[in-house]
Amino acid sequence: MKKIILALTILTIILLSWAVKAEEKNMKTLIVYFSRTGEQYSVGNITKGNTAIVAEMIARETNGDLFEVKLQSDTYPAGYTELTQVAKQEKSQNTRPAIIGDVENFDDYDVVFVGSPVWWADMPMALYTFIEKHDWSGKTVVPFVTHEGSGLSEIPANLKKATGAKTLSGLAIYGHEAQNSPDKVQTKVSVWLKELGF
Ligand SMILES: Cc1cc2nc3c(=O)[nH]c(=O)nc-3n(C[C@H](O)[C@H](O)[C@H](O)COP(=O)(O)O)c2cc1C
Repeated sequence: MKKIILALTILTIILLSWAVKAEEKNMKTLIVYFSRTGEQYSVGNITKGNTAIVAEMIARETNGDLFEVKLQSDTYPAGYTELTQVAKQEKSQNTRPAIIGDVENFDDYDVVFVGSPVWWADMPMALYTFIEKHDWSGKTVVPFVTHEGSGLSEIPANLKKATGAKTLSGLAIYGHEAQNSPDKVQTKVSVWLKELGF
């Protein structure tokens, strides 16, 4: 009798975990990101942003929809050092730059990956503009960043605070690695997504 109960318990656990995995696979997924071209630290002038490269990998693997957060009035300097100064000022003033457009049917998404370059240990202020436009209740938020040494920094905690949503463990990729070694980064992205159950 004990053996039958044990076997039934194991079977139930297996069936439940399959059900959870199947449900995760049906999740509607969005990848929202901010990314810059122009001069970037350690990679020179780039025509595709580092975070954009990672965002596209995630979209391909999760079959998710992409949305790039862009400024309505992009007056950011193309030079890296000049941009760091502008970004520092925006952060200290906690600005909310106006952004172009919006995601259609944001409410329909279950999982939202939020991709950001690390700017002064935080997200560019334009991502806060996007976040504060939306109701995040019931959503699962997944942070990913590109950086040049700071790792995830304060971004997961800030995202959790700004969205109030459940936040999964994030991925940090060196910007120059996304730019110069996409195959290596693709493997890291795949391993991370698998660990999270996607
Ligand atoms: C304004 C600014 C601030 C930055 N601050 C940091 C930082 O605090 N820590 C860090 O590791 N990298 C920092 N970086 C480097 C970027 O995070 C890195 O180059 C990133 O990959 C850029 O991504 P993108 O091409 O998608 O914009 C900064 C870059 C800029 C332009």
